[in-house]
Amino acid sequence: MQLLRLLSLSSAVSAAALVQPRQACTNPEKRVEFRTLDAAAQKQYTDAVMCLATKPSGLNLGLNTTLYDDFSYVHTHLNKITPDANHLLSPLLRHVPSLAPILRAALPRPAARMRLHRPHGLLGLVLDAADTAHSSIWSLVGGNGGTDKVEKTGTQEWMCLTDGPFKDLRPAYNELEYAPHCLSRDFYDGKNRPGTMRGSAYDAAELKFISERETYADFRLYLESIPHGSIHSAVGGQKGDLKPSSSPNDPLFFCTTPRSTVSDQPPAGGVKSTLDDVMPFMGLAADIKISEVMTTQNDLLCYTY
Ligand SMILES: *[C@@H]1O[C@H](CO)[C@@H](O)[C@H](O)[C@H]1NC(C)=O
Repeated sequence: MQLLRLLSLSSAVSAAALVQPRQACTNPEKRVEFRTLDAAAQKQYTDAVMCLATKPSGLNLGLNTTLYDDFSYVHTHLNKITPDANHLLSPLLRHVPSLAPILRAALPRPAARMRLHRPHGLLGLVLDAADTAHSSIWSLVGGNGGTDKVEKTGTQEWMCLTDGPFKDLRPAYNELEYAPHCLSRDFYDGKNRPGTMRGSAYDAAELKFISERETYADFRLYLESIPHGSIHSAVGGQKGDLKPSSSPNDPLFFCTTPRSTVSDQPPAGGVKSTLDDVMPFMGLAADIKISEVMTTQNDLLCYTY
């Protein structure tokens, strides 16, 4: 808790200097389900991910890993330093999927920047929750990891993707550990592979139930722990990248969760967050005040659904 207070205080000081007044959103992107993009736009998106993985880290921390790995690095490290800061961390993590505009501005390298000009896709796993394992999405983004190609780093076994646009991605981290490995998925429902992939946790009925919660605190709790948590464990299983805190290893991370909002309720024993709290990005992008992401209708996010 002390650490969080310190972090908030010191961030607030730097934020005063960093935070720009926001301009209007004049030309919003429409964020659409990935399958509604044409094949060229889909390829542009997946190529952009692979392009990030060819660029050196931009974090100024002397890392020998790639710009793509920076996302996992930041996610894992923030997870570690602010374990009690769910109310802060949560909006940060939810906004990572919306970072295309920030990336465009922040990426120093035009080659990576230019390829991100297309709208970001969302994965409509909810559309296929009755049988997630056989969703048509997998033919576009690579499906389950196989048992024919496995790797091990330390005690962690990985089920490597052998197909699709990300099959050659080699994430550098397993949680905090430097552990280069194949991109891995392990479709699992806690009992069977792939089983139901916990589809009832993110189907239309469940989302309707969650949208009817009366307080923000309830809404957030249900949304985070049921559909969000279930997709991580259904696609990540026990041997997949979407499972641990280094889940940005799997590009699906950036497509599975839309924007959510910020709690004004303290978590159990926690500190109440305010609109002036700052979400730290460790240099991946400029730090962002929560007040700046309470709407998508400013120049920072600038998108609609
Ligand atoms: C990259 O950095 C890691 C972590 O510091 C180190 O263990 C590894 O040997 C380095 N790899 C190369 C190829 O330099």
